[in-house]
Amino acid sequence: KKILFSGMQATGNLTLGNYLGALKNWVNLSDEYECFYSVVDMHSITVRQDPATLRKRARALLTLYIAAGLDPKKNCIYYQSHVSGHAELSWILNCFTYMGELNRMTQFKDKSAKHADNINAGLFTYPVLMAADILLYQADVVPVGIDQMQHLELTRDIAIRFNNLYGDVFTVPEAYIGKVGAKIMSLQEPCKKMSKSDENPNGSIYLMDDPDTIIRKCKRAVTDSEACVAYRDEQPGVKNLIDIYSACTGKTPSEVESEFEGKGYGDFKMAVGEAVVSILKPLQDRVKELEADKAYIDSIIKENAEKANYYAAKTLRKVQRKVGFPDRI
Ligand code: TYM
Repeated sequence: KKILFSGMQATGNLTLGNYLGALKNWVNLSDEYECFYSVVDMHSITVRQDPATLRKRARALLTLYIAAGLDPKKNCIYYQSHVSGHAELSWILNCFTYMGELNRMTQFKDKSAKHADNINAGLFTYPVLMAADILLYQADVVPVGIDQMQHLELTRDIAIRFNNLYGDVFTVPEAYIGKVGAKIMSLQEPCKKMSKSDENPNGSIYLMDDPDTIIRKCKRAVTDSEACVAYRDEQPGVKNLIDIYSACTGKTPSEVESEFEGKGYGDFKMAVGEAVVSILKPLQDRVKELEADKAYIDSIIKENAEKANYYAAKTLRKVQRKVGFPDRI
């Protein structure tokens, strides 16, 4: 089987964008690949975190992976910080990555503008840790949303550079971008991506929002004065709602256009809200059920950390030898 790696940060409240752009595809791909799904808590501390909150959110995220339908007996679901190989490989790859490359990362530019009081070295080398995550497991495929493409390109460049120097050490990974939902936009500013760090809570649907809140946010979504449910760039608000509806129902955008031909935005928004609720409500119920079973989640955490460590060590030993570190006796 080919190998799949992906991860998500346990920072902030996860949004519908995280679900439709990433998690949903993970579930669809999980039978086809040998999968590693990490809760990337080491990435989270590139911005200041409250320790107790981070710990709680990391566990909630790990639980969410399982609630979404990833079988933790078949898929390796684990905390990044439980596998020291991520940090070790990341250091080595830092020495094969140029400042200029990292300077070009748009997410670094955005985040350093936002956190101007804490532009730390970790924020700068964040993409190298991400490359280490992926290359450590020799991943063939990495399902992500469009906003992570630049980081994935860098990962490929680092892998190719390393392989050119030392022979075929790393598998060069491919991105997997879903057909629908790869870039869900804010409901309030449809030219901006839906983001967990948005200050306006009406712009994002959070995975744990209750049904009334979801419906209300959809009803208030910014649209236009065209009064026509059409999938086109000139109507970014409506286009985004069609994307959301498509991703939740499995209908294509043109099927959605016909379904709402001649109908008003009010009906359409209501249908979008209901479609989102029909996806998120069962997910929320399942999270609650799983949270109650502490021993089960603990056992998953332990078993899968061991499994991840085993695979990580294999790559790491190979890399350490290639760069000239002395053999272990
Ligand atoms: P993160 O935690 O910001 O987001 C997790 C996943 O959700 C996707 N996503 C979206 N997709 C569609 N529309 C949106 N509005 C939207 N917002 C977020 C992201 O593309 C991502 O797939 N650096 C990564 C985490 C990471 C990682 C990795 C991913 C660390 N190591 C290795 C893959 C492989 C991040 O911060 O994602």
